Amino acid sequence: MFAYRHHFHAGNFADVFKHALLSQLILSLQKKERPFVYVDTHAGIGHYDLTHPWAIKNKEFIQGVGRIFGCIDYPPDIGPYLEILNQNNESEALLKYPGSPVIAKNLLREQDRLVLNEFNSSDAEQLRLLSKGWLRTEIRHEDGFKLTKSVLPPRERRGLIFIDPSYDRSGEFERVASAVEIGLRKFATGVYAIWYPVMSESVTLDFIQRVKIYRGQSLLRSEIHLSQALFPGLMSACGLLIVNPPFQFELVAKTIGSWLLDKFDSSHNGRLVNQIID
Ligand SMILES: C[S@@+](CC[C@H](N)C(=O)[O-])C[C@H]1O[C@@H](n2cnc3c(N)ncnc32)[C@H](O)[C@@H]1O
Repeated sequence: MFAYRHHFHAGNFADVFKHALLSQLILSLQKKERPFVYVDTHAGIGHYDLTHPWAIKNKEFIQGVGRIFGCIDYPPDIGPYLEILNQNNESEALLKYPGSPVIAKNLLREQDRLVLNEFNSSDAEQLRLLSKGWLRTEIRHEDGFKLTKSVLPPRERRGLIFIDPSYDRSGEFERVASAVEIGLRKFATGVYAIWYPVMSESVTLDFIQRVKIYRGQSLLRSEIHLSQALFPGLMSACGLLIVNPPFQFELVAKTIGSWLLDKFDSSHNGRLVNQIID
């Protein structure tokens, strides 16, 4: 049933883009003392061994995180993500890649809480083992698209819901949109961050239209487009659609995106999209 294994792609340019923005989204929510919940609907195994045969099959990470690991000339907004990367690689060699659960756990304050969900049984078991001993962390093993119904609204009344499916089956854009719609009806003030591959402008616009259900609901469409795919047959562009983005988050997204684009696309023919949709 689950053919997709994130280990093959861990640390590629799309992971770096999404995780650098995710780190800043978490930090934005932490500007207030009040607690919040981080909900990861498609959490994966949590962290990735880059010497594993699946990671070295195509070595996607070399053209992704490999291009920024050890850099010293970075803007402050990407600092927290790079720090987590360094904490997960004790030596100077790049051997491990932290997934979204580890990133969130590294940034967790004592008043915050994590809900991490993974539907693939063996991946969920690895996540459970990894997170043993993590405080204020709940691991779930259910269909992530149903999570907005089962866990929202959170008791904290503040939350970041990260939706990061594999898009390896048809209908996933529609399933994401309906999960967000259910979430917004139960928890209208939550911040929802949805990662997506850019297939075409019309697919993206159709997706945005499905997610935008309320008049006045604010969205940030943040995308990175490389001038060409780094690997034949793989995507060259991806985005994060953020519902209820933190104040001026588009500036953070632009700073991070510009720095990453420069590292990933030496032709300088790539581009960013940072568009607020009101
Ligand atoms: C792109 S990966 C997640 C990566 C992770 N969020 C990260 O950033 O480190 C997508 C994950 O969703 C899992 N998955 C697939 N279908 C799912 C479903 N219906 N509900 C929850 N998880 C699912 C896959 O097994 C895979 O681990």
